[in-house]
Amino acid sequence: MLILLLYTTSLAQKNIEIQSPNTRIKLGLALASNGSITYRVSINNITIIRPSSLGFKLAKPAVLLNRFAITSTDSTEHLDTWQPVWGETHSITNHYKEIKLHLKAVSSNILLDIIFRVFNDGVGFRYEFPEQTNFKHFIVADELTQFNLSANNKTFWIPGDYDTNEYLYNTTLFTGIKALAAANKEKDIAVKSIIGDNAVQTPLMMKTPEGIYLNIHEAALVNYPVMHLLADTPKLGLTSHLTPDAVGNKAYLQTPAKTPWRTLVITEKATDVLASKMILNLNEPSKIEHTDWIKPQKFIGMWWEMHVGKATWEKSSGKHGANTENVKKYIDFAANNGFDGVLVEGWNEGWEDWFGNWKEEVFDFVTPYADYNIDALLAYAKDKGVKLIMHHETSGSATNYERRIDRAFQYMNDKGINTVKTGYVGKIIPRGEHHDSQWMVNHYNRVAEKAIEYKIMLEAHESARPTGLHRTYPNWLANEAARGNEFNNAPTLGLTPEHETILPFTRLMGGPMDYTPGFFRMQLNQFEPSRKTRVRTTLAKQLALYVTMYSPLQMAGDLPENFSRYPDAFQFIKDVPVDWDDTKVLDAEPGDYIAIARKQKGKESWFVGAITDENAREITVHFDFLPKNQQYQAIIYRDADNANWESNPEAYVIQKVELNSTSVLALKLAKGGGCAISIVKL
Ligand code: NOJ
Ligand code: CA
Repeated sequence: MLILLLYTTSLAQKNIEIQSPNTRIKLGLALASNGSITYRVSINNITIIRPSSLGFKLAKPAVLLNRFAITSTDSTEHLDTWQPVWGETHSITNHYKEIKLHLKAVSSNILLDIIFRVFNDGVGFRYEFPEQTNFKHFIVADELTQFNLSANNKTFWIPGDYDTNEYLYNTTLFTGIKALAAANKEKDIAVKSIIGDNAVQTPLMMKTPEGIYLNIHEAALVNYPVMHLLADTPKLGLTSHLTPDAVGNKAYLQTPAKTPWRTLVITEKATDVLASKMILNLNEPSKIEHTDWIKPQKFIGMWWEMHVGKATWEKSSGKHGANTENVKKYIDFAANNGFDGVLVEGWNEGWEDWFGNWKEEVFDFVTPYADYNIDALLAYAKDKGVKLIMHHETSGSATNYERRIDRAFQYMNDKGINTVKTGYVGKIIPRGEHHDSQWMVNHYNRVAEKAIEYKIMLEAHESARPTGLHRTYPNWLANEAARGNEFNNAPTLGLTPEHETILPFTRLMGGPMDYTPGFFRMQLNQFEPSRKTRVRTTLAKQLALYVTMYSPLQMAGDLPENFSRYPDAFQFIKDVPVDWDDTKVLDAEPGDYIAIARKQKGKESWFVGAITDENAREITVHFDFLPKNQQYQAIIYRDADNANWESNPEAYVIQKVELNSTSVLALKLAKGGGCAISIVKL
């Protein structure tokens, strides 16, 4: 279904209002007598964004684009439904009202369009520079987009940083943002480029005093740098701050050109933030015509061994993890437990000096270590119905990766390996560029496009955070691009029990995360007794994360020998699917708790995950999402009555109950705990 009401006005209207399809969200646009354009947003007549101005500062030509005349406007309404290749629901509705302002900049006469789309759950807008005679190539010095808040909102933020998004979240009032102190506490992040005391990252999650939820992010980040935000705390304002390149410019563009969408998810319920598909809807449809080679996957890895000190990536230590015999054990484990893949890190030459040298030629991505018999392992894996997953750590040397990528992907094709995990640990090469600058954004997107050529599925670690591009590139299954479960092993701050109650409201707004859940041994001193690091959740919560942290690519993070200690709990990880027909966000509050139910793709089974922060709590679940008049067998994996993340994290209870759509259960979550339920039709 598609409604298209197009009407064009040529009058220079001074005040324009557009409502969301359900009329609850109102976007106001105003042209001031001095030519500045502002937008404002309300929900149910509660102001969320006060008048905020729009525009650019260009470096070449050196002009300010912030005074305009409106030459005309176009308005449309759009409604359609589309099916993602994989996802949280089998179909997605895209319904919005749109207005396009055609502007001419005062004095320079440069033409600029701004498009606004108003959805039932928020607003998106982007700038477009149309093709025009006297303005072709240009350099952006700054984007002057404001987001003026209506109040001193509760804010979930991480410090603005051009090179990392691996910070712990801070929860303060907006006026409490103090990024430098927060960033300086972090000792375990490989490369930091802190922007300033008032800079924060998106997705930025907020809650107004009236209890309205506001999430600011961007959609379709293509050929443009990552947007950070500068907070003017006394004025309750935010301004866009683009990541600079090596010479301080922000973006090199050529007309016709468009920016990413600036997104404001605005909802009355926290659950609706998590259910929002607005960012996906603002991305372009899939560029891949035949998608039968793209498959959501569950995998294990030759990975955590290295992080916890049992083995190393490099061979020279004498403890090389990725040796043929060891990897065989992982293949056996994957085959015995129904996993699709085995990720192997440390398989290739180069790890001896891979980090910290800003070295350009690190890995060639095609030379296995001598003790890693890749052909024998491929044959062994194939025999057992398991795939090996490739690892391309670039060490931040994107130039080296780009030079070698065709050979590297051809090598994967030759070996029959169709999934790659990439990584960007270290200072970026081209030197002076940042993980978040335009050149690197283009690099990540080039890798995704190159992967399509070779029918390769991709996930990237240490990349810029996602912006919904997995709609356009469904072979791009996931990213890390935030503080992952592996940070439990970071000595200084580690993770907090509330971390996973914030991530879905922040990082996951842009797309799936390879969070690597599934740690079954919480004290990380198994191989090095002096290690103090530990996991700050219960075991039941690690299970629940497979439901609450959506990803089509899920790892079982821990070591086979640790899973073997609790085979009955491990059953949930074996059973939980990675692709869904439907998702119901049952209950949620950022920083406190999340409960989600999902229906397995193409099956009648449902899975529930509920997690809490450092506080124990009870969450009441109504199973009215189940079809009526049907009995189900549920297996509940819950925290034991005496469990808590700190002193008794591995204590859990497994119960079987019968359920139907009238059932109600009170789930008791321990401090730092959770509950996972699998529900199968009887
Ligand atoms: C950081 C990644 O997040 C981690 O998963 C990987 O093991 C190391 N880099 C080495 O590439
Ligand atoms: Ca909390």
